[in-house]
Amino acid sequence: MIRCNKYRGNAIELIILAEDKLTQSKSMQSEEAAKKIKTLTEELRQHNYAYYVEDNPVISDYEFDMKLKELQQLEKEFPQFADVNSPTKRVGGEVTKKFETVKHKYPMLSLSNSYSREELVDFDERVQKLAGKKVEYTCELKYDGVAIGISYKNGRLERAVTRGDGTQGDDITTNVKTIRSIPLTLQGNYPNEFEIRGEIFYPLSVFRKLNEQREEEGEALLANPRNAASGTLKMQDSAVVAERKLDSYLYYVLGENLPYDNHLENVEAAGKWGFKVPKKDKNLIRSCNSIDEIFEFIDYWDEHRSELDFEIDGVVIKVNDYHLQEELGFTAKSPRWAIAYKFKTEQAETKLEKITYQVGRTGAITPVANLQPVLLAGTTVKRASLHNADQIEKLDVREGDVVKVEKGGEIIPKVVGVNLDLRPKDSQPTKYITNCPECNSELQRIEGEAQHYCPNVWGCPPQIKGKMAHFISRKAMDIDGLGEETIEQLYDVGLIKNVADIYELKKEDLLPLERMAEKSAQNLIDGVETSKKVPFQRLLFAIGIRYVGETVAKKLAAHFKNIDAIMQASFEELVAVDEIGDKIAESIINFFSEERNRQLIEELKSYGLQMQMEEQENTIVSTVLEGKTFVVSGVFEHFSRDELKQAIENHGGKNVGSISGKTDFLIAGDKMGPAKKEKAEKLGVNIISEEDFIEMVKN
Ligand code: IVH
Repeated sequence: MIRCNKYRGNAIELIILAEDKLTQSKSMQSEEAAKKIKTLTEELRQHNYAYYVEDNPVISDYEFDMKLKELQQLEKEFPQFADVNSPTKRVGGEVTKKFETVKHKYPMLSLSNSYSREELVDFDERVQKLAGKKVEYTCELKYDGVAIGISYKNGRLERAVTRGDGTQGDDITTNVKTIRSIPLTLQGNYPNEFEIRGEIFYPLSVFRKLNEQREEEGEALLANPRNAASGTLKMQDSAVVAERKLDSYLYYVLGENLPYDNHLENVEAAGKWGFKVPKKDKNLIRSCNSIDEIFEFIDYWDEHRSELDFEIDGVVIKVNDYHLQEELGFTAKSPRWAIAYKFKTEQAETKLEKITYQVGRTGAITPVANLQPVLLAGTTVKRASLHNADQIEKLDVREGDVVKVEKGGEIIPKVVGVNLDLRPKDSQPTKYITNCPECNSELQRIEGEAQHYCPNVWGCPPQIKGKMAHFISRKAMDIDGLGEETIEQLYDVGLIKNVADIYELKKEDLLPLERMAEKSAQNLIDGVETSKKVPFQRLLFAIGIRYVGETVAKKLAAHFKNIDAIMQASFEELVAVDEIGDKIAESIINFFSEERNRQLIEELKSYGLQMQMEEQENTIVSTVLEGKTFVVSGVFEHFSRDELKQAIENHGGKNVGSISGKTDFLIAGDKMGPAKKEKAEKLGVNIISEEDFIEMVKN
């Protein structure tokens, strides 16, 4: 598990450390190993808590990773001593084909909602009347995430179940175990058996990054953090969930032997057992002894909620004392001892004048509601997203309707409903476009995807302009003096038709353009010239292959070293690279199977752009592997495949993609395909383990 990439790729350092640990562990006796596994497990659990729950790390990420690697190694050698809830399990890996449905021990009820202060006053009066005295309440936030019930037995996470229909939900334990703020084993004085409930969510900062990445890779954006969290938790591959940085808050403890007879103290106790619970000192939870104090809490969060890094949609008010809770009891759907006060999502009604359709860089079509301007949360809104054809159908939105618009966590407001009372008599259902609004090509819809696409990649103007805008953008070629507007101008006057034409631009061509003075023209020309030195991995990202974002481009560049190798790579060779899956590999193959794309690369080459990785200096550590050829395959304990390959080169060896009679060694990791092994055996290639390799370079 790597928590920070700072030390990744420093293969030499890792090798030295791993060597040490390896030598140590080999000589270790089983009793000693059992002890060491136990202390490391506990130590890592504590560091995990300090980092993810307390937000107060004690050791560096590097030290943490080293301890974790050590534990992984020991668990591999002595699996009999590995804790089922070991911190090494956080990386996921288990694949759930179908999530099992399980019945909740305690039904997962909902809360009755209130939208006005009067309703809260009524609630308080009802409760006081029954209690016959002043009542203590606990006020906390209403988290807008995915509800979860997690049961613990003897201090160990046993099962995590979604809410489902309230009576039964899905068992998503393997995925929940990867969430770092949820403890796998507990500390302190916890009850033997209990369930804890809370909410799992994407921090807004993580959600935004996820969408930025999707945008870069040309994938449809996720609508909001809650749906995204729910989708992630239902993924089959827990290793993917592990990378996603979901977070949690736990707010409700249930069980027969809880330490206190009230809600607040039990929640605080759960904080001591290792859970991430709302803290009083951040005003995330407070005890209130009057309706005025409840209003104070509500007012505070209505004003400050935008400062939180997660979404809330209100405040929950709970009777604190369990005896009184019991007296108040439940209705069929919700407890009588609690109520949710929902913040008003600022909503506005306005006329939908026209539905237009935007075409993105990848050809994805987004329907847009063009509205009569209306004031919403301090800004004038003229446009709102309608997402896709399904959404239009679901809401039955039509031109001429008066629609309800809301601002959520997203930047663009969205249409959430129609005021049917005001629907014009002659209104007609919306017919989704069948052809591209820009180039008239017939639209396509890939099965399983919500978005329609315009397939005219080479002739559809917004796609061409979008691709060029991506090419020149900051993280790509970062061409000084050339912005999106200029790209548009240059395209409209016919000076550039594709990104290669940018390198043919002359100052004389530019000067006649609007707002183009001598100095800005020179700037642009200089910027284009400088961009020829932009490193290969950024050029690879700039080309705009679908699903090849910044990170994937870096991986590809580091692995294949130059464009020709990538263009010639087979599907198998591509998926053999760290983090390159079927979808990305297919997209790369498709891209380069187009003659026009290959032609474009040749043109860019002819202008002197960087088509290969710069040689790294001072990386040669030894020449012990000189003349030796390696194939690296599978998943390894100490290194990523790329780190191993880097280490091979650092010691003078050579990496090749596939096994042949000339291959000297196959370094075989876990999950290596049987065909590879068979082929290596047939050709007499030495099959070695990661540990053998470490020994080789060590000597
Ligand atoms: S307590 C029996 N506390 O809201 C009552 N729920 O509409 C148990 N929620 O299903 C719920 N924040 O998913 C409680 N601080 C909070 C909450 C909270 C969000 C969710 C929860 C529940 C739904 C009820």
